[in-house]
Amino acid sequence: MTQQEQRTAIVTGGTSGIGLSSTKLLARQNHQVFICARDQENLSATLKELRQEGLNVDGAACDVRSAEDVNSLVRQAVDRFGEIDVLVNNAGRSGGGVTADIADELWFDVVETNLNSVFRMTREVLNTGGMRHKSWGRIVNIASTAGKQGVVLGAPYSASKHGVVGLTKALGKELAQTGITVNAVCPGYVETPMAERVRQGYAAAYDTTEEQVLSQFQAKIPLGRYSTPDEVAGLVGYLVTDTAASITAQALNVCGALGNF
Ligand SMILES: NC(=O)c1ccc[n+]([C@@H]2O[C@H](COP(=O)([O-])OP(=O)(O)OC[C@H]3O[C@@H](n4cnc5c(N)ncnc54)[C@H](OP(=O)(O)O)[C@@H]3O)[C@@H](O)[C@H]2O)c1
Repeated sequence: MTQQEQRTAIVTGGTSGIGLSSTKLLARQNHQVFICARDQENLSATLKELRQEGLNVDGAACDVRSAEDVNSLVRQAVDRFGEIDVLVNNAGRSGGGVTADIADELWFDVVETNLNSVFRMTREVLNTGGMRHKSWGRIVNIASTAGKQGVVLGAPYSASKHGVVGLTKALGKELAQTGITVNAVCPGYVETPMAERVRQGYAAAYDTTEEQVLSQFQAKIPLGRYSTPDEVAGLVGYLVTDTAASITAQALNVCGALGNF
């Protein structure tokens, strides 16, 4: 593919963890990548660092919970790089606790951040981003193994990620004949800033140390360790290739055998 034929990708939550690794990989695979996150300072620092590596990236601050922000993000991406070929819905948050004690605000925010945003961003990319009129497109939703099995003290998170898997399967079938594939990548435990926050939450809930939580989690993973953000990005990078054209409406795990469902 020549420089002129570069595909345009949007990655939400591209400043950290899995989103950052996916951004780097897609840019190295000759995509022009438009990223977003809420924190403008982190966004600017990330873009600067990636450009220093010679990667063709840009971005804008955007809260995926806001319909206005999502509309503005996709418009800016199209203005900068042209119509959208690839969407990676990665932005997300953890969140849970003893279900009987969960406040409405927490429940709604987890669902808004992890699930409603995926619907909104996808619809915006299909319309404003022009994808629905193309004969080729790739949508990859970063769900979780928690989107396939319940996670103790994680009801809102599990519910939101099951929702992402359901949305992916339905839309993948709906678009199957269009050349647009829709898949979910389901990470298990991945070493990122979010994973650290999750361990802190469980340490507080179980009145133990983060180190103890880490070894309990590691013991549950047959591979014996957390996955890396690059290992998750590797599957994202494959799903957006031409060769992956017949993989659609799937939810694929990257989890060191934590689950094999
Ligand atoms: N780490 C794991 O073990 C694991 C396992 C399974 C699934 N996942 C999923 O993988 C995805 C990425 O997780 P990660 O571990 O890489 O997390 P992370 O390191 O915390 O990064 C999250 C990214 O999303 C952005 N973000 C968060 N809320 C946002 C919002 N409302 N609007 C726009 N951007 C937002 C963050 O930037 P700002 O804070 O500046 O907005 C950051 O760039 C999430 O969907 C998560 O549920 C992670």
